[in-house]
Amino acid sequence: MLRKQTLEGAQPVRGSSDPAGSPSVADTPAEASRTAHLSARNVRIEYRAPSESASDVTLAVDNANLELQRSDFVCVVGPSGCGKTTFLNAVAGFLPIHGGSLELDGRDIPGPGPDRAMVFQQASLLPWRKVIDNVTYGLELGRTTKKKQARERARDLLDLVGLSGFADRYPAQLSGGMQQRVNLARALAVDPALLLLDEPFASIDAQTRETMQAELLRVCAARDVTALFVTHDITEAAFLADRVCVFSPRPGHIVREVVVPFERPRDQRLRRSPEFLALVDEIAETLYGGSDPTAGEVIH
Ligand SMILES: Nc1ncnc2c1ncn2[C@@H]1O[C@H](COP(=O)(O)OP(=O)(O)OP(=O)(O)O)[C@@H](O)[C@H]1O
Ligand SMILES: [Mg+2]
Repeated sequence: MLRKQTLEGAQPVRGSSDPAGSPSVADTPAEASRTAHLSARNVRIEYRAPSESASDVTLAVDNANLELQRSDFVCVVGPSGCGKTTFLNAVAGFLPIHGGSLELDGRDIPGPGPDRAMVFQQASLLPWRKVIDNVTYGLELGRTTKKKQARERARDLLDLVGLSGFADRYPAQLSGGMQQRVNLARALAVDPALLLLDEPFASIDAQTRETMQAELLRVCAARDVTALFVTHDITEAAFLADRVCVFSPRPGHIVREVVVPFERPRDQRLRRSPEFLALVDEIAETLYGGSDPTAGEVIH
């Protein structure tokens, strides 16, 4: 259900009607307006069973506060069931909020839109479409990009995610990691202002995952993407993010934001540095330490 909404919500944004053709995705300087500013203030999200009796209400997120500036890469970690996916789905516009405010570039989020794209844990590709046709799918739904331009754009993105030789394969002919790269290329094809990722590498083996993380950083830098990334993996969060937001147990709210001070571009050696390991420890302490630290505190 949600996946269907994502695909249908995906439409081309800027650059797609460029008369000179689709820009080279890797080399084009990003337009400042393509990235987004997200503001969540005291967000509350409930699930209500159809009967709507008080006992059928699950309070998933309460009092969540988060600011994403343009081009930020923010990771969210937290215990299972604390409301991370719920929060992400509200930002995507799949779920309404029941309190507080949730704004993208100063406007309420009324529903799914072409300014946001989601990458899920499992690659959600259309099995009957070739890889390249999966990548162009969102552009086809938008109907403002000519087929030739859409395919050029898709080829650029497949190149960017390291799959240039696989455009004419079907998803079943790819490994899980490769499918997830196609998923990423498909999300980027619509040029989203905000990229939402819900444990996108969780089902990928550890070695491929590290490669994918580095690739994601490279892609995000090339596209100047604003990203909100949910993960259970603290090391992944520390490697990717500008800031790591730690959610409390349900109802979820952000108990601490940890600023990640490492310069970009980051490479795999960072993971072995004492500073990195100390930061991972610090986040783990917040997450598993037991106590609920002061809400909203930022540590540097
Ligand atoms: N469709 C739904 N209807 C009712 N309750 C739901 C629904 N989806 C999630 N919940 C409940 O909301 C709470 C938060 O769920 P959510 O999926 O957001 O957690 P999460 O932090 O993403 O967990 P995980 O790390 O395991 O993915 C949980 O208690 C869950 O049972
Ligand atoms: Mg989840």
